[in-house]
Amino acid sequence: MCGIVGYIGEQQVTNVLLNGLQKLEYRGYDSAGIALQTNKGVQVFKEKGRIADLTKVVDQDSPATTGIGHTRWATHGVPDRKNSHPHQSQSGRFTLVHNGVIENYLQLQRDYLQDVEMKSDTDTEVIVQLIEQLSLEEASTEVTFRKALTLVHGSYAIAMLDERDPNTLYVAKNRSPLLVGIGSDCRVVASDAMAMLQVTDQFIELHDEEIVLLKKNSLEICTLDGERIERAPYTAELDQSDLEKGTYPHYMLKEMDEQPTVIRKIIDAYSNENGELTIDPQILQAFRAADRLYIIAAGTSYHAGLIGKQYFEKLAGIPVEVHISSEFGYNMPLLSEKPLFLFITQSGETADSRQVLVKVKALGYPTITLTNVQGSTLSRESDHTLLLYADPEIAVASTKAYVAQVAVLAISAYACGQSSLDLKKELSIAANSIQTLLDSKEEMKKIVEETLTATHNAFFIGRNLDFYVSLEGALKLKEISYIQAEGFAGGELKHGTIALIEEGTPVFALATQSEVSPNIRGNVKEVTARGANASILSMEGLEEEGDRFVLPCVHEILTPLVSVIPLQLISYYAALQRGCDVDKPRNLAKSVTVE
Ligand code: F6R
Repeated sequence: MCGIVGYIGEQQVTNVLLNGLQKLEYRGYDSAGIALQTNKGVQVFKEKGRIADLTKVVDQDSPATTGIGHTRWATHGVPDRKNSHPHQSQSGRFTLVHNGVIENYLQLQRDYLQDVEMKSDTDTEVIVQLIEQLSLEEASTEVTFRKALTLVHGSYAIAMLDERDPNTLYVAKNRSPLLVGIGSDCRVVASDAMAMLQVTDQFIELHDEEIVLLKKNSLEICTLDGERIERAPYTAELDQSDLEKGTYPHYMLKEMDEQPTVIRKIIDAYSNENGELTIDPQILQAFRAADRLYIIAAGTSYHAGLIGKQYFEKLAGIPVEVHISSEFGYNMPLLSEKPLFLFITQSGETADSRQVLVKVKALGYPTITLTNVQGSTLSRESDHTLLLYADPEIAVASTKAYVAQVAVLAISAYACGQSSLDLKKELSIAANSIQTLLDSKEEMKKIVEETLTATHNAFFIGRNLDFYVSLEGALKLKEISYIQAEGFAGGELKHGTIALIEEGTPVFALATQSEVSPNIRGNVKEVTARGANASILSMEGLEEEGDRFVLPCVHEILTPLVSVIPLQLISYYAALQRGCDVDKPRNLAKSVTVE
């Protein structure tokens, strides 16, 4: 979702901004722009489409050493040049980029901007025009900036240039991710540390309703009331090479291939000095003190949460509810006496999940975030963090983060209970099985050719844990190949959806659960009798003649780690076959920072 970069320092800024924006491409966007502070005023370049399109129109040779940049994921107004950022005030004095949603922009427009002709359909333009109106009565830009932000309701991450004050870059944050950074000869701002690793690894977190004044050699953080705040920087422990795709054609393929390594890293990270799998004692204590666990998540992370429910109930005896974060905020169930909230979020920035975190914290409940990004908003604001150790996931479609979520949930539940399971050994077996599956890519390509070449829809069915993996398989297929896909509990299909089965409709059935394997095979017979092109993906030990693919055997509770791999690969090859942009599917964003 939208990304911001900004730089004030000694280097020529155009390429710093373009490189930074490229690092934010993975978040998803549909237009991009930069603004350069030059001695002839602020110059703005923007373009619909990719950074590559923007690169063609910018002034590559500009001597400017201060500037801001933005990738936009449209919320207010269609994705076109007029609506893309940066936006400028009427006179051109102020130039601003913004992520987030301004809830009262129409009211602000009515109350303060009656005489201003708006150039775009965005809520963002209202902020920059408002700042200019307020500046007519106030000499200090800092005071004007703070005043404008007290009038604005909603979420924002902002970077702004003032033509009359070329030595300052103005920054503000509320409910949208933003960091500032300190380089040897510069100060920077970015939605994500990755974007500015090119100039520094020293970053400072910002809290909600804070503004920052960046100068070449200093920065000042303060509240909207003007109170100064001191905060120490931290070192972003990211490796630039994690962000490159090397010889891989797509990040998604690279990230799928990293999955065995991720499981092994997790085993290592969660092993104590005796080599036993465990989690931080304080987190263990929080789980044990709870009478019910509420898992809150969205999308793929929600699917991992459904699996986590089984783990905590079976391995630790803790009752669990799993909720979609966007629904939970206004549809909160009756809570137990001692609830514990577990947020599952790869990015740690999902606004839907964060709004729940804010609400339950206000109610005084304990919170844990399971995330891949240390220092992300949800990680910072929860009482505890469980890390995924999956290294950055760049492809929009989540693969290795999902597998990491399932593995860390298994370890956490195991650590809370007293299972006789040798989880460490079983996870290592699962890592090897994932590797075997990743070596079967040709077979997955063949399955795609046989089933998905000329289809407009597909179904994924399973029972028990296989049902949850079916949901994830369907989500993967639709998000990157745009084939309409649905995941179902095997028994549920006949209660309505079987009406959609026609001659040749692809149905993928997972059969990895011994107790229900005969039942899912019965469901396959039902759809085959109605013309479906069914493929059974079973597990060694449960296989039968005619199964399309047999997965290497793993412990039954860990099957979601391996059964998802063929479904990820099938989605990948289906997307390739259709010529889709695998890493950046249309309309989607990696970090979903609006509610
Ligand atoms: C799908 C996918 C999304 C995310 C969802 C939540 O491949 O990645 O469904 O799982 O947007 O994101 P996080 O986990 O960052 O909260």
